Amino acid sequence: MLIRNGVLVGAEGQQRLDLRTRAEKIVEIAEGLTPEPGEEVVDASGLLVLPGFIDTHVHFRDPGGTHKEDFLSGTQAALAGGVTTILDMPNTQPAVTGREQLNAKAALAAAKAVVDYGLYLGATPENVEEAAGLANEVAAMKLYMGSSTGSLLVTEFAPLYRHFSTFSHDKPLVVHAEDEQSLQYFGALARPQSSATNTNHNLARPPLSAQIALSRALAIAEKTGRRLHIAHTTTQRELELIQEAKQKGVRVTCEVTPLHLFLTEEDQQQKGNLGKVNPPLRSREDQQALWRLFDSIDTIGTDHAPHTLEEKRQPYAQAPSGIPGVQTMLPLLLNAASQGRITLQAVIERCVTNPARIFGLSTKGALEIGKDADIVLIDPEKEYEITNEQMLSKCGWTPFAGTHIKGMIEQVYVRGALGYVRGTCIARAGSGKSVVYTQSC
Ligand code: DOR
Ligand code: ZN
Repeated sequence: MLIRNGVLVGAEGQQRLDLRTRAEKIVEIAEGLTPEPGEEVVDASGLLVLPGFIDTHVHFRDPGGTHKEDFLSGTQAALAGGVTTILDMPNTQPAVTGREQLNAKAALAAAKAVVDYGLYLGATPENVEEAAGLANEVAAMKLYMGSSTGSLLVTEFAPLYRHFSTFSHDKPLVVHAEDEQSLQYFGALARPQSSATNTNHNLARPPLSAQIALSRALAIAEKTGRRLHIAHTTTQRELELIQEAKQKGVRVTCEVTPLHLFLTEEDQQQKGNLGKVNPPLRSREDQQALWRLFDSIDTIGTDHAPHTLEEKRQPYAQAPSGIPGVQTMLPLLLNAASQGRITLQAVIERCVTNPARIFGLSTKGALEIGKDADIVLIDPEKEYEITNEQMLSKCGWTPFAGTHIKGMIEQVYVRGALGYVRGTCIARAGSGKSVVYTQSC
């Protein structure tokens, strides 16, 4: 296939170039390529040609929660959002904590996924050795220092330290850094006001909880010399601590979600449980700090965490935390780029280049010869409004309904095969493949 006349966008810049794919790979990039006999030609005049996005943080609920998402619906939503690779979190039912659950989930993904995928392993106080033995087969290990959706949790020092020391030091250990004891304390304080559906979740799980857990994780990573990736960093203080640790040589990287870039605790107050997520939507000051300190953010991951409207309509205390987002990340970031808040290059660095590097996805990560032909065509001038009806997630809602977007995803290719065209997924269930891991750095 030959994609002609488009503007290729990478982490380094933009250039008008043609791109040829063959047998799932990018094989040629140059000016003015001529079609070969019988070759399919895509005219990308007026369009941007982006590498497929890599979302290293999704919760697809398969197995155990398939009424709200499964590998088919979740990866279709990803594809429609220009995300051609996902890494799925382990807090399913059962949680992925060992060989048996890993194999079972891999079979589900292989049968249903329409984008490429990798799987996380979840840390428990008991699975230190088994987890370490599976390191080569997973994208990373996820460790919850504070409780959230599901049962995964490690709070005691001994298993925490042992996971940090034992799990392959060169694979990311991805930490949900909220401190359990302080969550319990502040959660209890917030409870008396929570008879109504609306409580300020940011008071129940305050920035201090994040700061305490992060400090603990950084200290242990420094001591053990291991790699650490901080999931959903939400506050100025956390970014400062991470910067300081990086300067000292700690092998730490961090993620921010579009939720925390685009929404604040005021939105949570207004949307109620639809804005309830762990860690919570923060103050406007913290939100603005994420933009101000954007250079220090390594990856943007969605934390796509679908729950049904019915589940969200329960009282605050019972309503599950989590917000969908895999389909809206690229549109929101394209829009921010169109407003001049950020460059597309900076977006690609955080949504493609750095995720591939950090998670060792060496066949992904750039529009380059030899890489998988994961390609997104964008019309930068087209404008539209996000609606719940466009969402392909089974949960069927988005907190961004009504948001005006400039920049539309026209076509998405996974390893050279057209999977999505203007609103319609045409990819076959099971066409997604497990990613290949090489040494990450
Ligand atoms: O709000 C959240 N929802 N935070 C998490 O850590 C998990 C996620 C989920 O799985 O629903
Ligand atoms: Zn998550």
